[in-house]
Amino acid sequence: MAKERWPVLVTRRLPQPAMDRIAERCDITLHEGEAAMPRDRLLAEVKGKVGAVTLLTDKVDNPFLDAAGSQLVIVANYAVGFDNIDVEACTRRGVMCSNTPEVLTETTADTAWALIMAAARRIAEGDRFLRSQKGWVWGPMMMLGQDVHHKTIGILGFGRIGQALARRARGFGMKVIYHDVYRPPRDVEQELGAEYREFDDFLAEADFISIHVNLTPETRHLMNAERLRQMKPTAVLVNTSRGPVIDEAALAKALREGVIFSAGLDVFEKEPEVHPDLLELDNVVVIPHLGSATVDTRIAMGMLAAENLIAGLEGRRPPTILKPEVWEEKQRGKA
Ligand code: GLV
Ligand code: GLV
Repeated sequence: MAKERWPVLVTRRLPQPAMDRIAERCDITLHEGEAAMPRDRLLAEVKGKVGAVTLLTDKVDNPFLDAAGSQLVIVANYAVGFDNIDVEACTRRGVMCSNTPEVLTETTADTAWALIMAAARRIAEGDRFLRSQKGWVWGPMMMLGQDVHHKTIGILGFGRIGQALARRARGFGMKVIYHDVYRPPRDVEQELGAEYREFDDFLAEADFISIHVNLTPETRHLMNAERLRQMKPTAVLVNTSRGPVIDEAALAKALREGVIFSAGLDVFEKEPEVHPDLLELDNVVVIPHLGSATVDTRIAMGMLAAENLIAGLEGRRPPTILKPEVWEEKQRGKA
């Protein structure tokens, strides 16, 4: 007998190996094109589906779950971050959710590192300057930046990506300090040579601050005008986590007034919009949410999202389920 095929929604085309894997077991409703799925289409198309692969641009909330119907088993998010998902609402209804951790850790740390280097050494500004075809000649005082090597890096949020950044920093001879509400085990601190700091000391001591926290009510505007003023005037701030962790208007003002030296941003408060004041400034490097954007990593994320989806539908435990108790509860229900 042919295996059961499941109706699922995929809200944007994923790398082909992931599409192929999902198509082995599922009938896919796919939103084509380069734009995020409009909300009304999302709510219309999720109706009757047993699974959905979502992106960080898709809000999975009570209206989404109502529109889907009670047959929905799993929402497999194609991202490590899951602030687009109301995990509590899913859990209450027995809907499993998963994300794509680990497969993008090193790539995202590389992106943070690229922004650190670019913002400290004025790489994007230099590129813009040459393309502007203004006359120039090498000069002792031309476009001076800040050293990266042997400085102090402050890692805000010391999870997997923050720790991967610490390894890169050690290779540059940097002193590594971190701040987080969770302290990793002592042997992790020792292996990475990383020292914990209270937030005030952290802000004052770091030459570079790179943000790696999840977006939660507690971390929204964590970097506000007052915290920016606590940083060194020579300091560089980098964000590859979620835009709303920084008060963008306050950052633009701080950059304009020389409160800090420069910034590198991969994510934005009102994504995909970038605060217009930031676009006026030369001491900020902006890139369009490219943290995990490599060929290999996007395939790996797709394969992991596909595996979570299919495992959930087959009754196996999705490998990176966010709330394992939802799966366990289902197992008890079957017994
Ligand atoms: C991207 O921002 C992700 O959370 O994977
Ligand atoms: C955070 O997003 C992590 O993977 O540590």
